[in-house]
Amino acid sequence: MLRSSTICSFATRLLGLTIFISILVAVVFPSPQLSPPNTSETCVQPPLDNCSFYADCLETRYHCGPTGYPLGYGQKYCDAFQVARKTLSAEGQAWMVRTMHCLQLALVDDALGTGPNATRTCAALEDKAFGTHARCYVQSGVCRLPVEDWEAILEIVHFKTLFDSWDALKASLGAGTECLEFFVFLGKKTIDQW
Ligand SMILES: *[C@@H]1O[C@H](CO)[C@@H](O)[C@H](O)[C@H]1NC(C)=O
Ligand SMILES: *[C@@H]1O[C@H](CO)[C@@H](O)[C@H](O)[C@H]1NC(C)=O
Repeated sequence: MLRSSTICSFATRLLGLTIFISILVAVVFPSPQLSPPNTSETCVQPPLDNCSFYADCLETRYHCGPTGYPLGYGQKYCDAFQVARKTLSAEGQAWMVRTMHCLQLALVDDALGTGPNATRTCAALEDKAFGTHARCYVQSGVCRLPVEDWEAILEIVHFKTLFDSWDALKASLGAGTECLEFFVFLGKKTIDQW
């Protein structure tokens, strides 16, 4: 009798302590609130060759700040590609436009808060976005570009920024031989950097 009530009051105190700590954590480390989505045309159907999606559709909703994914990565490298466009071949420029578009389309659900996979935090958004990089690059045809374009692309965006890991990259390159040369090229570049 006595023991069970002791356990019971211990459990109550533990529960109280847990709630208290949760509230404390929430107060000290608030997670930024999501704003209502911007449902303008740019956010529903991001236009080709345009970087507005990051600031107007993602940052206005997530508020991740200057180093967060929308402004610190998405917008930054979207702008960098546009500025360095002339360093790419004609094929390379067409690839760039397709890739930038693919990366934005992959985050439309997040910008609009629609669909079961829409993220709700900056960290989750960043994870999801990095997970789309390799697929968008490969599907847009990076492996078929001339080696000069690969060099130019790596000047614009560094390998570590490009792909979160070799595993993600390998998964997207698939089993075919089409990307073998690109893979070897990246491998050499990575070794050179050390
Ligand atoms: C990108 O799209 C926005 C919104 O539709 C537009 O205001 C802007 O002029 C476009 N920027 C470029 C460089 O085309
Ligand atoms: C929504 O997106 C449009 C198009 O890019 C932009 O002009 C507008 O400022 C955005 N609205 C808000 C509230 O951010």
